[in-house]
Amino acid sequence: MSIWSSNKLLSEWMEDNWKNILETELDYFTPEPRTDPLVQALSDSLGIDKSNIFVAAGTNQLIHSIFNYNKWDEIFVMNPDYGLYESILKNCSSNQQYNIINEKNICEFFIKLRKLNSSENDLLCISSPRWFDGIQIDVSEIMKLLENFNGTILIDEAYIDYSSKSVDTMTLANTNSRIILTRSFSKGYFLPGLRVAYAISTGFNEKFRLGGIVPHSIATPSSKFVVKLLEQKNILNAFTKMQNKIRSIRTDLINSLSTLEDVWVSNSEANFITFKLENRGDDFISKNVVPIHKVGEGYYKYWITNDRESQMFLNNVIEHCKEYE
Ligand SMILES: Cc1ncc(COP(=O)(O)O)c(C=O)c1O
Repeated sequence: MSIWSSNKLLSEWMEDNWKNILETELDYFTPEPRTDPLVQALSDSLGIDKSNIFVAAGTNQLIHSIFNYNKWDEIFVMNPDYGLYESILKNCSSNQQYNIINEKNICEFFIKLRKLNSSENDLLCISSPRWFDGIQIDVSEIMKLLENFNGTILIDEAYIDYSSKSVDTMTLANTNSRIILTRSFSKGYFLPGLRVAYAISTGFNEKFRLGGIVPHSIATPSSKFVVKLLEQKNILNAFTKMQNKIRSIRTDLINSLSTLEDVWVSNSEANFITFKLENRGDDFISKNVVPIHKVGEGYYKYWITNDRESQMFLNNVIEHCKEYE
């Protein structure tokens, strides 16, 4: 069940807010940053210049628009990473050149990247915290990436609201035109159906805003909902509390799983952990009573929702390990 329906404060606010929105004129907001209320609300809440904010119907749409932006000679993505990168690349409308780097380990990935001959017209797209294992790269690693790669780096921060690290990518994106950030209301605020996300960049021009992204792509009710959300401190606080709770469950889970000999667990900064079992991982999945997803040969993801379920998950892993001792 979503936090929006299980929490009284949130469900009541959601109901009232929708009612009010639907009673108002369903006009549409211009993508022009000086007049778009969503861009203004984001600018106020993030404390950044409106002209560096680009809103769109979800990160997926931003990634699609950025990949198809006719500026890039070649686009680089990692594998494993969020599958949409690869599928957009394979279907890019232009004759876009792309390069998929098969590497799970971030350090090895840096080494591979250094060996590639990248140009200033290339784009590298990575998620951080990573889709695969929730690992977040910090500023020194981004600086290393900027040295090893000559083009622009797009950092997809879909899971950033669950990070416990203070990595100031926002300042970086506002001061370095080779960094593009994307953020979303889908994960941290449990609003994937609203389709609201934004990019921060100083490297795009108004042509990109007015034509690179489909104009008026965010539906007015979605836009109005997020504008209201950004004004409501008590609602934002409820989310901060929930995100803190997920972080604390994640820390306990990682600590407990790390003590088990047959288990590898990622140092995730997202609302999931990725793990590997030495023995018969697929058997474990078929027996497990909590939802688990396979993310690669031998690797599995567990999405953290609440204490009770994560305790059940942990007990199941312990039992499984005992069975194969
Ligand atoms: C890494 C990553 N980026 C982006 C998205 C999609 O975000 P949005 O709902 O904003 O399009 C997902 C969703 O699974 C994701 O895992």
